[in-house]
Amino acid sequence: KRIVVLYGGFSAEREVSLVSGRACAQALRQRGHDVVLIDPADGIPALVNALDPARDVVFNALHGRWGEDGSIQGLLDLMRVPYTHSGLLASALAMNKALARDIFARVGLRCAAGRLCTREDFRNGHPLALPYVIKPVAEGSSKGVRIVTSGDNLIASEEDWAYGDHVLVESFIEGRELTVAVLEGKAFAVTELRTGEGFYDYEAKYTEGRTQHIVPAPVPDEITQQAMRWAEIAHEALGCRSLSRSDFRYDDRPEAGTAGGLYILETNTQPGMTPLSLAPEQARHVGMDFSDLVERLVTIARH
Ligand code: DAL
Ligand code: MG
Repeated sequence: KRIVVLYGGFSAEREVSLVSGRACAQALRQRGHDVVLIDPADGIPALVNALDPARDVVFNALHGRWGEDGSIQGLLDLMRVPYTHSGLLASALAMNKALARDIFARVGLRCAAGRLCTREDFRNGHPLALPYVIKPVAEGSSKGVRIVTSGDNLIASEEDWAYGDHVLVESFIEGRELTVAVLEGKAFAVTELRTGEGFYDYEAKYTEGRTQHIVPAPVPDEITQQAMRWAEIAHEALGCRSLSRSDFRYDDRPEAGTAGGLYILETNTQPGMTPLSLAPEQARHVGMDFSDLVERLVTIARH
């Protein structure tokens, strides 16, 4: 097949996407496909010219804004070019963490307490009980994410508004970080991420050796089952197709007097495909190597 791999792009996760795209292109070439790598940041006309609906499939290795939020999906729909991963609506819904929370709540998945805030909401103090997390509404890879604890007297700095006039403020769930990838409606496994110092931020995500990935996660069986089920429900409720990955917090400290248990954070419709990424690692865990996964995504590509 002739496959156009889209990578790079304009988002804050551009660097991550360059790594994802190169890895996917290499795997597809090894499988004998004719692969062209295209970076939308080099110009949309060049991108459009590289596409031939009669013989191309697009492998979407973009992350974040314009690549994971429905924009590129809409362009490809219009051009009738089949592409990997989710379509326009699921991409747009999942990328917007506030809208995704509403949908999760509707299908009975628990999210941390949270609200959308503007600068005004910080004027008279903390908008939510400490500790809480400030995150951009529509970014990935923990870009712009900050945990505010009682040690921080600084409330919402200018950096918090780098991604827009609204931020999502959510109660910080003490405990553990879990993730579950779903392919064609079925969960692979549960991975626990252990970072030692600090949270699973950008550096912890993409620095080799910084984070321990434990698959299957050493959590009670019922939590494993619940996380896998919730990831499948989230995938379905958002209307995702092909591959997604949902991230969770698991509060395993009942002694702290909290409600405890599982909370869903978000669903990623374009999960990372770098050598340190989690969806390919889980696929491997169930016997599907990286090139099998990439090949499968191409096989089920559509518009
Ligand atoms: N947003 C990054 C790429 C991920 O979820 O893996
Ligand atoms: Mg994300």
